[in-house]
Order: sequence, then structure tokens, then C-alpha cells
Amino acid sequence: MAQPNDRLHDYLVKEISVNETTRQQLLSIIKPALGPVWTTRFRCLAHGLGFPRWGNLRRLKPFSDDHGWDRGTPVDRYYVDRFFERHRADITGDVLEIDRSTYTHRFGHDLRTTHAFDINPRCEGTFFCDLAHSENVLQSEAYDCVLMPCTLSFLREIELCLQNALRVVKPGGVILANGGGLFRLDKAEDDFWRLTPAGWRELLHRVWPSCEVVVEGEGNCLSVVAANLGLSLEELSSEELDYCDGIFPVVTNVFCRKPKHEAR
Ligand SMILES: C[S@@+](CC[C@H](N)C(=O)[O-])C[C@H]1O[C@@H](n2cnc3c(N)ncnc32)[C@H](O)[C@@H]1O
Repeated sequence: MAQPNDRLHDYLVKEISVNETTRQQLLSIIKPALGPVWTTRFRCLAHGLGFPRWGNLRRLKPFSDDHGWDRGTPVDRYYVDRFFERHRADITGDVLEIDRSTYTHRFGHDLRTTHAFDINPRCEGTFFCDLAHSENVLQSEAYDCVLMPCTLSFLREIELCLQNALRVVKPGGVILANGGGLFRLDKAEDDFWRLTPAGWRELLHRVWPSCEVVVEGEGNCLSVVAANLGLSLEELSSEELDYCDGIFPVVTNVFCRKPKHEAR
């Protein structure tokens, strides 16, 4: 059944498109009289574009100032956890993680070494160092897997950090990491980088030229909005979270496998 809006739309399109000159004349009178707000409303109505129902989403401050941790689990963790879940098979043997070994133990299997490092001494990991200048602390080719969950945005000297992450991986080993996409900045830490998936691909092909690198953004316009408003993933359905639209990444996932032998 035709809705009232559809009928109005048909009427306006039919009537106003009868004669282009009349249409232009009408618009030149109507637009200034209506002003920009009502002109936009009128245009949306005429084109059947629909109106937002903002409710309490029309706000200048998010629902949470802590990424949604106070409500439940932050939306970005849905994509981060799913990424590590998919790569369970690679999280094994000698594993190094930034901050603490949380993801190592959650997703790893047959673990031999579980080391952690951080630039912040309060993290109490195995090693205290800046990844960018870690040559004397983190041993080269020592790990089967390096995990950097939700970390890429925070690495100030990003290229040096990435080179060192690769340095500590054994030939054939992997790096699993994520960076923030269309996602709010962190208040608590220095948050440096928001690259698009294409931007990360560009950078990673430069710093890890001989590696197999897979970069993928995950999210959609709803999960981006929910994440930035500080809502939690429990407030969206799995269908809403699962839908991935390449132009709305909440996070960018990075997988890197170091070649077994350096290409000559
Ligand atoms: C947001 S946390 C991410 C890891 C955390 N386990 C998580 O799941 O959210 C980023 C960590 O990277 C550390 N970090 C930032 N830059 C670093 C660097 N250059 N070298 C070593 N650690 C660094 C920070 O101190 C912080 O603990």
C-alpha cells in the first residue's frame, strides 16, 4: 500500500517536473522563504529520503567516557576478539604480547613462552622497553607469534616499532595486531595514528616488504556510531555487528607472516 510520503513524493515529482523553468522559478521563491533547515526537510520529503529519529542520540557527549567499559564491552572488542579467534592456530609456542599476556592466554594453545613487554613500567610485563628501541632488550627471531591488540594507534615511532616487531619474530612466525579505525581517540594514552586500511597496507608493505600481509577493516555505519557514542557491544545484535562495510572500519586488523627464508 502506498504510504502518504510516497504519494506526496509522486505528486511533487510529477507536478514539479512538468516544466523545468517553472520548477526553477518555484524553487527560487520557496528556498529563501523556507530557509536551509526546512529546505532540507522538504527535499528529503520530496525525494523519499527519510528522517532520523534522534531521540537521546542527539547529544554532544557520549554515553560513556570509557569506550563503553562501564556499560559492558566496548564495540571495537567484538572485531578485535573475533580476529584473534580466527587466528587461534597461530598463537602458539613462544609468544610475546604488548602490555600483558591476556590475549596469549585467552586465544593461545600449546604455549611454551609467554612474555610481555611495555614502555610503561606500571604494566609489569617481562620486559620494560620502547619497542622502537628494543634491540638490547627483546631478542631477535625469538617468538613464533607477536600480539599487539588495539595497539597500532599508540606506537609513536610507528615505523621503527613495526620493524622491531618483525625483528623479534622467527622466520615463518606471525604478528597479529589492531589499530583504531573510525573510532574515538583515547584520553588516557597518547593516541597518534588513525590510518585507513589502505593507509596501513601502504605503510606495512614499506616496512615489511617481504612478508605476507593481510589488512582488513571491520565495522559498519551503525557500529561506528555505537562505538563513538560509548555504547557497548551487548547493546547491538550480532547481525548488526557482523555486517561489514569496508568504508566504515571500527578497527583495522593486521596479520603478518614473516617468510621462512629471506627472499634473495
Ligand atoms: C591500548 S594498550 C593495548 C594493549 C592492551 N592489552 C589492550 O588490550 O587494550 C597499548 C599499550 O601499548 C603500550 N605502548 C605504547 N607505545 C609503546 C612502545 N613504543 N613500546 C612499547 N609499548 C608501548 C602502552 O603503554 C599500552 O600499554
